[in-house]
Amino acid sequence: MIPVEVVASIRDAAQIEQVVGEYVQLKPRGANRIGLCPFHNEKTPSFSVSPAKGIYKCFGCGKAGDAVKFVMEHEKLSYPEALRMLALRYNIEIPEIDTEAARAEKHLFDSLYIINEFAQKYYSNNLHESTEGQSIGLSYFKERGFRQEIIEKFQLGYSFDSFDAFTKAATSKSYNPELLKRAGLIKEKNNRTYDFLRGRVMFPICNLSGKVIAFAGRTLSQDKKVPKYVNSPETDIYNKSRILYGASLAKRSISENDNCYLVEGYTDVISLHQAGIENVVSSSGTSLTTDQIRLIKRFTKNITILYDGDAAGINAALRGIDMILESDMNVKVVLLPEGDDPDSFVQKVGNDGFTKFVEANAKDFVFFKTNLLIEQTQDDPIKKAKLIRSIVETLSKIPDPIKRSLYIRQCSTLMEVKEQIIINEINKIKQGNFKTFVQKNAPTAAPKVLDVPEQTLEEKPNKALLTIEDAIEGLERDIILLLFNSGDRMMTEVYENEEVEVILYVLDELEKSNIEFKNELYKSILDEYLKGIEKDKLYDVSHFQTSGNKEVRELCANLLMTKYGISEGWEKDHKIIVPEIDEKFEADIVNLINRLKLKYLRLMMDECDAKLKTTTDETEMMGCIRVKQELINKQKELSRLLRTDIH
Ligand code: CTP
Ligand code: MN
Repeated sequence: MIPVEVVASIRDAAQIEQVVGEYVQLKPRGANRIGLCPFHNEKTPSFSVSPAKGIYKCFGCGKAGDAVKFVMEHEKLSYPEALRMLALRYNIEIPEIDTEAARAEKHLFDSLYIINEFAQKYYSNNLHESTEGQSIGLSYFKERGFRQEIIEKFQLGYSFDSFDAFTKAATSKSYNPELLKRAGLIKEKNNRTYDFLRGRVMFPICNLSGKVIAFAGRTLSQDKKVPKYVNSPETDIYNKSRILYGASLAKRSISENDNCYLVEGYTDVISLHQAGIENVVSSSGTSLTTDQIRLIKRFTKNITILYDGDAAGINAALRGIDMILESDMNVKVVLLPEGDDPDSFVQKVGNDGFTKFVEANAKDFVFFKTNLLIEQTQDDPIKKAKLIRSIVETLSKIPDPIKRSLYIRQCSTLMEVKEQIIINEINKIKQGNFKTFVQKNAPTAAPKVLDVPEQTLEEKPNKALLTIEDAIEGLERDIILLLFNSGDRMMTEVYENEEVEVILYVLDELEKSNIEFKNELYKSILDEYLKGIEKDKLYDVSHFQTSGNKEVRELCANLLMTKYGISEGWEKDHKIIVPEIDEKFEADIVNLINRLKLKYLRLMMDECDAKLKTTTDETEMMGCIRVKQELINKQKELSRLLRTDIH
């Protein structure tokens, strides 16, 4: 928690033009500064900063905010993280919560970061400055095609082939051996400490903000018994399942491209960067975890898995797919040509070739998995049943019902299986899930009666939040008033070759759409019109002015008080300009009726949504989705007629 007064002083200190100026070249224009927007690609500047107002705004992509917002967006930080970064920049001290435990923990973390930073510098120094490092490590990297700047960008290093070279270097600088152990860099055996990683090229592993928290070391030995990669053990600051290699260097590019490439190895990440493809991370050595997926989800909802085309790669991809789908993300899979990994492939074909290949070969997971399994089943019915079950398992992981229904349809075509069969299978799985969910969450004791305080505040209806029902009632009223005014006039433009009275048009349209007025008073007036028509009479307003019903008489009086009978606030509430009814009554009544229909569509859609939320039955769900799709189409059509936005 950052105290409010400190937040205020950070906000005061952070000068927008300075903060933005660290990332964007700004030129003065009048009282403002302008530059190229860092949030979208542009060639002419539309990104404007106002020092006076303390805000930025891009007229191209619409991104806008103050200094804190800028840091959040640009650095992909949370609000408190952005505040901390600005506090650091402006030398503002943030008093930390002062518990003994919190202080000790922070101290430990800081020490571990410092030690890792020292280690990284030490290993890099070995690589670049020592004879052993240069002749073994550096020459290896060069041979692999890594250029100087990429070696530096990834802070690569080399650990001497020595029992305790690092231990000695660190202790001579007074680093505490206990902390070195705790950082996973040294180990102890028979009272002697030794370096954990030796004679290996070193890949520092960083957290999301770019701090080194661990290392991976690759052996240069050809000996099959020596493990190719060895990673630091997990420590207080290194949790393998939460870290993605390359994330700190990739995050901006991931959100810019709205896609994240997921590869298997360290060298894949590095080579892609070298080729200018920076939206790439690797789960390096562990199979993908949900925490890692969640990390990616902060920057994009789209993942493209780039794995080797061998069996291991395919299986790893298959395992990843379900997990990614469960996190409500979109997955595509690209299998590289047999024998290549992203590293070797991109080094062969370069940025262009790589991008083209990925574009041409990125398969939606459904096609990927289905085609793969179809190849394996080869018309064997038992295998085919297994295939269906496996695909269905995957489909059932998709949380979004609309997306799921689209995939069900595609799969049914691909596998030549009826949609309904897939749906039934999904239902089975879901019911199973539901059962285990209930079992897991069944209350073990009677629920406590909660002590709910009585509502003391008077509930104030919020006028701004007009409900659909309110809106419908307003429209009904306006239709009635328009009928009073022009109900007996002829409409010439709505039907071809036919003229019709306004009242007949209204009654007809309402009946066609199955709409009945909800408000009793307005409904009784419509009924009265209808009775008249049955007796071959077209009532005008005078008929209602003498009505036995007081409310009806009042409504008429209301009409006579305003010029055209349209209630005040019409324009504001309904966002349309009310023309003079005398001239435009035709367009107006059509408009009112269409608006009313739109509201009913909204009501039905809400019903659909409510049902979608509560039902676990896939058949019912599919039904709802179809209905909803139809409603959406109708809504679009009506909105086009009305030439207004849906709201
Ligand atoms: N890996 C590991 N331990 C191993 C082998 C592999 O942790 N003994 C992890 C590493 O993250 C490695 C990834 O799995 O990057 C992929 O393994 P592999 O394809 O064998 O390595 P490459 O990344 O291709 O490494 P190189 O090109 O250096 O052989
Ligand atoms: Mn490789």
